[in-house]
Amino acid sequence: SLHPACAYRAQLLYFVADPTTLEDPAEAVRYHSDGLLLVNEQGRIQACGDWSELSDTLPAGTQTLDLSGKIIMPGMIDTHLHFPQTDIIASPASGLLPWLETYTFPTEGRFGDSAHAREVAGVFLDELLRNGTTTALVYGSVHPQSVDAFFEESHERNLRMIAGKVMMDRNCPDYLQDTAESGARDSEGLIQRWHGKGRQLYALTPRFAPTSSPEQLAACGELARAYPDVFLQTHVAENKDEIKWVSELFPTNRSYLDVYDSFGLLRPRAIYGHSIWLDEQDRARMHDTGSVAAHCPTSNLFLASGLFDFQSIRQSKVLHTLATDVGGGTSFSMLRTMNEAHKVARLNNYHLTATSMFYMATEGAARALDMQGQIGTLAPGAEADFIVLDPKATALMARRSALLNSLEEQLFVLALLGDDRCIQASYSAGRRVHERDH
Ligand code: GUN
Ligand code: ZN
Repeated sequence: SLHPACAYRAQLLYFVADPTTLEDPAEAVRYHSDGLLLVNEQGRIQACGDWSELSDTLPAGTQTLDLSGKIIMPGMIDTHLHFPQTDIIASPASGLLPWLETYTFPTEGRFGDSAHAREVAGVFLDELLRNGTTTALVYGSVHPQSVDAFFEESHERNLRMIAGKVMMDRNCPDYLQDTAESGARDSEGLIQRWHGKGRQLYALTPRFAPTSSPEQLAACGELARAYPDVFLQTHVAENKDEIKWVSELFPTNRSYLDVYDSFGLLRPRAIYGHSIWLDEQDRARMHDTGSVAAHCPTSNLFLASGLFDFQSIRQSKVLHTLATDVGGGTSFSMLRTMNEAHKVARLNNYHLTATSMFYMATEGAARALDMQGQIGTLAPGAEADFIVLDPKATALMARRSALLNSLEEQLFVLALLGDDRCIQASYSAGRRVHERDH
């Protein structure tokens, strides 16, 4: 997919370190108030810096787009969500388990139909791009054809996506069950068809411990060992009723996380959705194994699951990311997700800065996924997945923006007031894949 090199003039923002690890968090940020971003024919970042320094070096005839007043930053990375739940977003329930029974399982039952899966995958990807998310870690349904459909739509758009077929062989409706054997076989087939094809990457996806037999988790562990660069995604310690159920199903394990640990599922590139009700020992295991906690605040508040413990997660140095968890989550917007993450942290007496949240949504997620230098950054060599933010997208934001004293304040206003209206455009591998109409 070659296309002409293109230069963009705008404010540029990206991260080169985790701000929470530095004495001066500002040193984690690269910010150019009048910047130039040059994207090459291969869809990678060629140069990124001050306009005044780089504009003279542009090859004659380079197409230049003037986006003065706008902010270019890396596309956002959503590390946990479910594409088959697109159409049941905002379905009320008293908690996780009733929500799964009443809405989620019936809707996922339709994804054995490839045409339906493809239609919903297209809508879902367009919605991500409208919200400035250029990479996501996505659950399909139990049907392998749902994941074929998803990857076909993603591959056609040349997006960097990670997805997998849910494995579930018990404690769910018959029409949604695979077996330990078929789940592993179908997952391996999908790995061979899609992992590394174009920009697509695979994630082993046991739904959660209650819906997998020990045999299925063991088979998943074998695949996780056989394919160490394949991702793994599941849910852990989201809801009190769920945790009680796990302790009944796996009475010999010390904790919910320990169930996954005992099957060899803790490792780098393993992403654990929610990770709310962990204890000190669990966090130490996550840290020691390089596993990742994906915080899903809009979902956790909507389903009254609980408050993610930022303080403890950070003290234990567990890798952690932000995610929407659509359709348990109530928004595709990572900006809205930051808004609620800040408030969740507040309720636990922790001040989560906007600088830290923008890091988590970009460079931090790339590092947690072991994709540093590839996505989540504007540094030269990276894939040119970036977004154009309009910090004055609404009248209220324009007024508020007149009184800013720092970059942290600017980012805070974006996080607390922003949503899809701020995403003026999204680019994937240098090609525009969304533009907001005015
Ligand atoms: N636990 C098991 N399945 C799901 C799901 O689809 N959504 C959420 N939020 N939690 C789960
Ligand atoms: Zn989920």
